[in-house]
Amino acid sequence: MYVDSHCHINFPELAARLPEIFGKMAENQVSHALCVAVDLPEFPQVLDLAERYPNVYASVGVHPDYTDTPEPSVEQLVQLSQHPKIVAIGETGLDYYRLEGDLEWQRERFRTHIRASRETGKPLIIHTRSAAEDTIRIMQEEGAGLDKGGAGGVMHCFTESSAVAEAAMAMGFYISFSGIVTFKSAKELQAVALAVPLNKMLIETDSPYLAPVPFRGKTNEPGYVKHVAEYIAKLKSLPLEEVAQQTTQNFFKLFKIA
Ligand code: NI
Repeated sequence: MYVDSHCHINFPELAARLPEIFGKMAENQVSHALCVAVDLPEFPQVLDLAERYPNVYASVGVHPDYTDTPEPSVEQLVQLSQHPKIVAIGETGLDYYRLEGDLEWQRERFRTHIRASRETGKPLIIHTRSAAEDTIRIMQEEGAGLDKGGAGGVMHCFTESSAVAEAAMAMGFYISFSGIVTFKSAKELQAVALAVPLNKMLIETDSPYLAPVPFRGKTNEPGYVKHVAEYIAKLKSLPLEEVAQQTTQNFFKLFKIA
């Protein structure tokens, strides 16, 4: 049994073929998926999926790359997360790769999410790209981690160094690997995945993007998370069953799902 800890099945390319997508999940023993919100206008669709499908959970948050979108307040995030199927705050974080200029608004938005996470006790889903130093600094300043009474969370679609992974794990965060780890060119990331202990690891698709080998370049979907697990098992020389079981257990523990 596998869990896709991060997908966007509400995006049009996946939402249009949900029966097929759930069929593929069943075929590949992917029992659950977390549908991650990227902004507030689309949040009702995300929540609707979580309400309609027992094996879908959801989050609430505004992605750091979304510029032309309503800014969330702490109160709003706290209020919207008061639903039993909303298990996390995010995705949030920093991205200095896609956007340029004065990004103070992005850091403020990130702080807002961390405050909502602390208030609700719901863990954070963090996106970081070309901004690792500021991401870790703000997580520490705002007390995102278990070490400071925060709710912890996950560094999603991880592509940073071992040092960044260690700093996040020191705050009680999990590290989530996507299909990127299966790419031939991802040697450094593979070394990071080798170093991250299995009991600190989640797996995800981030679908519809970043399909793992052998589907690289195609539309990704939650059922393909099995290929990420297979790669990790081979990399770590572990039985596939152990990777499946441990990453699934980590998911339920982090998101406090009984
Ligand atoms: Ni995402």
